Amino acid sequence: MAGQTLVTQNTNLSSTLREHRVFPPPAEFAAKAHIGSLAEYEALYKKSVEEPDAFWADAASNLEWFAPWSQVLDGSGPHAKWFVDGKINLCHNCVDRHALSTPEKVAILWEGEPGEVRKITYAELHEQVQRFANVLKAQGVKKGDRVAIYMGMSPELAMALLACARIGAVHSVIFGGFAAHALVDRINDSSCVAVLTQDGSFRRGSEIKLKAIVDEALTKCPSVKSVIVYQRTKSSINMQEGRDIWLHDAVGSVAAECPCEWMDAEDPLYILYTSGTTGKPKGLVHTTGGYAVGTYLTSKYVFDLRGDDVYWCTADIGWVTGHSYVVYGPMQNGVTVLMYEGAPNFPENDRFWKIIDEHKVTVFYTAPTAIRAFIKWGNEWIEKYDLGSLRLLGTVGEPINPEAWMWYHRMVGKERCPIADTWWQTETGALMITPIPGAIATKPGSATRPFFGIVPEIVTKEGEPVPDGQGGLLVISKPWPSMARTIYGDPKRYEEAYFSEVPGKYFTGDGARRDQDGYFWLMGRVDDVINVSGHRLGTMEIESALVAHTKVAEAAVVGRPDEMKGQAIAAFVTLEHGYEASDELRQELRQWVAKEIGALARPDDLRFTDALPKTRSGKIMRRLLRELATTGEVKGDTTTLEDFAVVAKLREQDEA
Ligand code: WTA
Repeated sequence: MAGQTLVTQNTNLSSTLREHRVFPPPAEFAAKAHIGSLAEYEALYKKSVEEPDAFWADAASNLEWFAPWSQVLDGSGPHAKWFVDGKINLCHNCVDRHALSTPEKVAILWEGEPGEVRKITYAELHEQVQRFANVLKAQGVKKGDRVAIYMGMSPELAMALLACARIGAVHSVIFGGFAAHALVDRINDSSCVAVLTQDGSFRRGSEIKLKAIVDEALTKCPSVKSVIVYQRTKSSINMQEGRDIWLHDAVGSVAAECPCEWMDAEDPLYILYTSGTTGKPKGLVHTTGGYAVGTYLTSKYVFDLRGDDVYWCTADIGWVTGHSYVVYGPMQNGVTVLMYEGAPNFPENDRFWKIIDEHKVTVFYTAPTAIRAFIKWGNEWIEKYDLGSLRLLGTVGEPINPEAWMWYHRMVGKERCPIADTWWQTETGALMITPIPGAIATKPGSATRPFFGIVPEIVTKEGEPVPDGQGGLLVISKPWPSMARTIYGDPKRYEEAYFSEVPGKYFTGDGARRDQDGYFWLMGRVDDVINVSGHRLGTMEIESALVAHTKVAEAAVVGRPDEMKGQAIAAFVTLEHGYEASDELRQELRQWVAKEIGALARPDDLRFTDALPKTRSGKIMRRLLRELATTGEVKGDTTTLEDFAVVAKLREQDEA
């Protein structure tokens, strides 16, 4: 790839190529930080890669283990195992430890969209999670069983994860924005025995009727024996006799105590489905010990957590960010975790700033797409609030454009809070490339330098190193504790997707370059994964949904740059014989995708065409479609195209 141009999904990031601003860690912040100088970071980083066993053993010793490990790391590549023979429980490390040492500290500070506030202390959380766990047991859920969780952002959602972890049930959280069909696929793929849900959840002033969607899905999920329902909205729902129970009824009739299961470090903790390059989402499996250590340590050093923090990560627990940085990472560090149920612009555009001011949030972690929305809404919404409690900011999910970074720095951080741009993935479990805020100077748009123990490289497809300053593939060359261990039910796909593209290395699917200071600049995906408002979607998933419609013959979906969402979804569709293209059909198909997958996958543009551009071997040339969707032109190489007329026609239709 050296010398060639790297083809990534993000063509709107050219501004980072001209970015030269550098922001050293604010002295006041560095003075109090866990790691307060570049020299300290460099020394620790050196140790972490030269003596990984000693480094990670040291990190792991901050957690409570029921039985020690006999070996820190065994094996490599897709077969790496961490903390071999160690016994641990993540619920114990998130809850029990703090219930003993700081019982009165608020563990979860929750605000509902309508405005209610709940404060749950570590002691209360301890009791409630144990009861929740006993309810699961009473329903017959055992260690190793898979449990689907389909809930809104309520404290009970966090408790649901912790209750599963406590008894060793493997949770599979499905984002509340996914539709029934997506729920069916995910529940069946891992044969979940129970579903934890709630009647509904409030979002932008209306109710998302979660239980009704579960009911629809469960007509096709034979493995599910019971449904436990948390009552949130009190709207009327159907309760199926013999299958559905109310959580509030059940917790009263179980014991208050539930001891933690001793989990092997390599026992699965959870499955989380994410999009890949085929139509079928991958159920990535995270195990217990290494994931615990990875999320603990990254939270401690990158969010610089300490006892008195009120920490707010705005991600939904339905995504990996919510797993690692709403629940497991911050709770292992024993801080107060803020959770908010609803939309950032309800009832008005100032909701987030109001929450930060009222609850004196100290660490705030959100997505670039949200920042771009704040900018669009205007500064008047933020100016009336005192954000003086904030000391550190973070971003995640997609590359941040320097303009959004600067606004975040000035308007939210008031030029005194460092910004941690955190690059990582569902697969990596924990933050990978990100500044240690008291040690590493930041540059707007760069995720900066690797976390401890992480060895990223920029290489060609053949695995050859790419010189600094040039784009290439981002790979990780050494194992790290929190990496996913497999794809549920498909270990072969795991090896193929991540360890065979570039031999011997973990392939991220992202393009990146490294500058002369060793800073990494992420350039977007190099595969068929797109990133819409920080939500990861597979173009093939959307294509499969489209072709499942009776009127559609073929579909190709690509991402195109979008100022607000990072990327927007552009679909090209050919119709079955006998159907006519029309505006009505366009709306019908967009709606169909929303119904099949969820509103987040609804195509922004949908164009009808007579044929799709293909290579002589029949592969759709997405690169051309991407160009066309982005610029309305095709200038790239078309020599492998089977039928040249197709592109000309597509362009004509575009102009029509
Ligand atoms: C992208 C979300 C640039 C990237 C944690 C990655 C980013 C994919 C960043 C993973 C960032 C995430 N800068 N790109 N700071 N963070 N990405 O699995 O393309 O939902 O491969 O994990 O998001 O998305 P996922």
